[in-house]
Amino acid sequence: MSKAGRLVVLVSGSGTNLQALLDATADPSYGAAVVAVGADREGIEGLARAERAGVPTFVERLKDHPTRAGWDAALAARIAEHKPDLVVCAGFMKILGAPTLEAFPVVNTHPALLPSFPGAHGVRDALAHGVKVTGCTVMLADAGVDTGPIIAQEAVRVFDGDDEASLHERIKTVERGLLVDTVGRMVREGWTVTGRTVRIGK
Ligand code: GAR
Repeated sequence: MSKAGRLVVLVSGSGTNLQALLDATADPSYGAAVVAVGADREGIEGLARAERAGVPTFVERLKDHPTRAGWDAALAARIAEHKPDLVVCAGFMKILGAPTLEAFPVVNTHPALLPSFPGAHGVRDALAHGVKVTGCTVMLADAGVDTGPIIAQEAVRVFDGDDEASLHERIKTVERGLLVDTVGRMVREGWTVTGRTVRIGK
């Protein structure tokens, strides 16, 4: 196996997707290591998970910067310190700016079948629309809100009586597996992007 791919994972919350990546990277055959975890806020379980795993963390808060551009530049600099091969947004609830997007490939995960229900409330919006099937999407991040080229998707049924919490939990169970599988294949096999079509493998 060649050198493990270096992942910097960005989180804003509970970090169960991060945990799935940390667990997967314990096996050397996975081909990747989480070299740092970054956040846009203090005191979240995602950071605690990284600390328990002995992974370096950093926090860059928007409110500590006079401008959004200043935060964008500072975040990109913090990420760059860890020389990632791939940045993974795992429940990172901010849009990344050009300094990060132009420097590194970035994967994002979203709890709906894009292009339906982008944004911060994908699960709530899908339920409110009355869909019978929703799911999760792993995509390359771009400057838009969940608009980047789709890498992988998986469907999840909506049950009668689901509320946002129950549906999101069921989606996240599928999402963690999809994210781990997709990131691992990308790191091990590489990928190409033609227009909006992403293909993993040479
Ligand atoms: C995940 O479901 C992720 O898709 C979602 O936040 C959750 C984070 O869970 N992200 C978005 O909605 C981004 N638009 P986690 O902190 O337990 O990994």
